[in-house]
Amino acid sequence: MAVALRPLSYALGAEVLGIDLTRPMSESSFGEIYRAFLDHGILLIRGQKITREQHIEFSRRFGELDRHEALPRDRHPQYPELLMVTNVPQADGSPSNSRYTGQLWHSDMSFTLVPSLGSLLRAAKVPPVGGDTMFANMYAAYEALSAGMQKLIADLHGIHRPERKNAGVDPAWEQENRRLNPPVAQPVVRTHPETGRKALYIGEKVKSFEGMTQEESRPLIDYLIRHATRPQFLYRHQWQPDDIVIWDNRCTMHVALGDYDPAQRRHMERTTVLGTPCGHVAAEAAVH
Ligand code: SIN
Repeated sequence: MAVALRPLSYALGAEVLGIDLTRPMSESSFGEIYRAFLDHGILLIRGQKITREQHIEFSRRFGELDRHEALPRDRHPQYPELLMVTNVPQADGSPSNSRYTGQLWHSDMSFTLVPSLGSLLRAAKVPPVGGDTMFANMYAAYEALSAGMQKLIADLHGIHRPERKNAGVDPAWEQENRRLNPPVAQPVVRTHPETGRKALYIGEKVKSFEGMTQEESRPLIDYLIRHATRPQFLYRHQWQPDDIVIWDNRCTMHVALGDYDPAQRRHMERTTVLGTPCGHVAAEAAVH
């Protein structure tokens, strides 16, 4: 079967048409999907009424799945391969731990030593308006930098912390998160292990470069994020229920915009495919 694709934006992304994930898929069809994933950075598959088991099973075709040990409060109690991104209150009525998940520009699990290869996010409930997610093509962002800037950042490492927007809202969660996830230094320029192309690897979880102070690092971090999020590098996804969006964390970054009425429900479930080891625990002296 030849997989039919429709581009999603100038910068990145393709919709995969005519796929039903409740039905068996041959190795060759999956091979085409994987090729499209590498070529386009993001894939959208609409209208998939799949179970949690089917979500996990399809995700496993991309590689071994993260059991989200780094984010134990946010995973599904029965399905550790599923990370909840939800504003549905907890059983005792208290607010969900994950209501602000993803609301900073980031690449999944960059704050760990095995940053993710890719993620598959399924929309179970979406608000009537908003709740969009924006994606940036980090190959294109890297390639558009001048030779001088590419040289300047070639050997820099950004220190990634497991931070979320609205810091201070949930101190117990934040304390546990910091204990489980010491700051990790990742290269600012990463070579994609499968395509061999260079991509920027930065985001709003980076507050400093290794060996530099926050004050010294801030202007360049701000510049690189502003550069990477110029409109020509972006795709903005407007969710429909039963959408699945699959992204390559090695050459894209994304942000959940939080542009919706918090009284409306938004419930997403994500599998996270493990990548190859990258980065090192940041030297304490450099973390300030
Ligand atoms: C995520 O960062 O994995 C979640 C993105 C979203 O909820 O839109």
